[in-house]
Amino acid sequence: MREITLDQMRELLDSPIFHRIGETADELGVECYVVGGYVRDLFLERPSKDIDCLVVGSGISVAEALGRRLGKGAHVSVFRNFGTAQVKYRGIEVEFVGARKESYSHDSRKPIVEDGTLEDDLCRRDFTINALAVCLNGNRFGELVDRFDGLADMQDRIIATPLDPDVTFSDDPLRMMRCIRFATQLRMCIEDETQQALERNAQRISIISQERIVDELNKIMLSPVPSLGFIELARCGLLPLVMPEVAALEGVEVRGGRAHKDNLYHSLEVLDNVARVTADWPDEPDEEKAETFSHKLWLRWAALLHDIGKPRSKRWEQGIGWTFHNHNYLGEKMIPGLFRRMKLPMDERMKYVQRLVGLHMRPIAIADDEVTDSAVRRLLFEAGEDIDDLMLLCEADITSRNQQRKQRFLDNFRMVREKLSDLQARDSYRTWTNPITGEEIMQTFGIEPCKIIGELKQMVKDAIWDSQIPNTHEAAREYMLKCAAGKGLYPVNTENKTE
Ligand code: CTP
Repeated sequence: MREITLDQMRELLDSPIFHRIGETADELGVECYVVGGYVRDLFLERPSKDIDCLVVGSGISVAEALGRRLGKGAHVSVFRNFGTAQVKYRGIEVEFVGARKESYSHDSRKPIVEDGTLEDDLCRRDFTINALAVCLNGNRFGELVDRFDGLADMQDRIIATPLDPDVTFSDDPLRMMRCIRFATQLRMCIEDETQQALERNAQRISIISQERIVDELNKIMLSPVPSLGFIELARCGLLPLVMPEVAALEGVEVRGGRAHKDNLYHSLEVLDNVARVTADWPDEPDEEKAETFSHKLWLRWAALLHDIGKPRSKRWEQGIGWTFHNHNYLGEKMIPGLFRRMKLPMDERMKYVQRLVGLHMRPIAIADDEVTDSAVRRLLFEAGEDIDDLMLLCEADITSRNQQRKQRFLDNFRMVREKLSDLQARDSYRTWTNPITGEEIMQTFGIEPCKIIGELKQMVKDAIWDSQIPNTHEAAREYMLKCAAGKGLYPVNTENKTE
């Protein structure tokens, strides 16, 4: 955090828009402040787009008068129901609101709102670091108002509420998610009283919409060390409420002196590993390519969810120990239900996460065994465009403390990667299609759709991928005819021909 003197603050706000706002407020005889995230981010030197202005009086009147003052190029939108207004001017967006005093009823986020003083408004805000205001009126331009020691908390890297945290969280339970999100994004600690209030109020999250919860989870996901947020969510009891499938990963069972690893902390380690290697990837999708989405966010979701099938597939097998057979397939099946319930997108992004969860054991299985061409080819075909992301996830998944074991996997992964680039150069198995179609089989043997068509296609596919025959139509057809003859099936015009 940097320190900012009055002169420096004046310089930081020395843009025409802030001066015009101040002049407008002076003309109307009201106090006007820039508040909230914009002020916080000036001190934290973070880029901030949204400017929120607080008027001790009518925010709408200031916005309308500012629109007239700015003239052409200014666009004013008024939301009378909410008592707010927005001014857009040369790519800048400023929200105006009148200072309020709010009280909340128990079962709703909708407050009863009355006009209030600056103090009333600042104390109803979520955290002390968000309750800073800088005056824009001419005679006090740049003057900081810090009624709740937000600067000191920022300095000490503490997230605390201006009022009793039970009141702040109970008024708006979304703030519990925001609390953990800010702690994660800004690498700050949650103050003790605030932490205890999170535990006491966790159940109140039930009145918050899934969309708002997911917005906060996505911000936690995109933070440099996302595990910090999930550990906090687990610690205060919010995790089982917002993501029971992830909460179920927590815990270690011991039998006969043998323990399995704690799958929650393992998953979080994998998530942090993926976060480290994707740190430079863009948060937002590439606008040029409308059909693409941000892989950064969804690869991180895949990392968090990759072992989601483990609790249900866990078995104790005599003489073997703990097993989690097919947890990847079980996990793959759980993804659509989880995405639907959490109101995560049910589109390509869900399918991408699902594919990675389903395939995440494949590279490990190959690396654990002999790294053959055909195994790598199969992997390439199944993962398609996602192959590089899958390899990243799998490397992140090696969290073994046994250095020798870890090294062996990493060496084998290097071999898989080498073979992959070799194969990618040699053939196009990413987009491979079987040279023999079902149509051709039906025509050749004069048969209707039936099981044998799939069997013959599979035999051709296996032969090509195991390099028994070349990847050409001619070779594939010859092989298919031979396989069919083995099943007593002959082409229609040479039917029943005996040599
Ligand atoms: N605020 C609040 N309670 C909420 C949401 C917001 O008290 N549930 C207040 C905070 O003072 C916050 C301001 O409204 O600073 C603006 O909210 P918003 O734009 O959502 O958050 P920012 O703090 O600007 O941060 P971010 O944009 O990262 O969400």
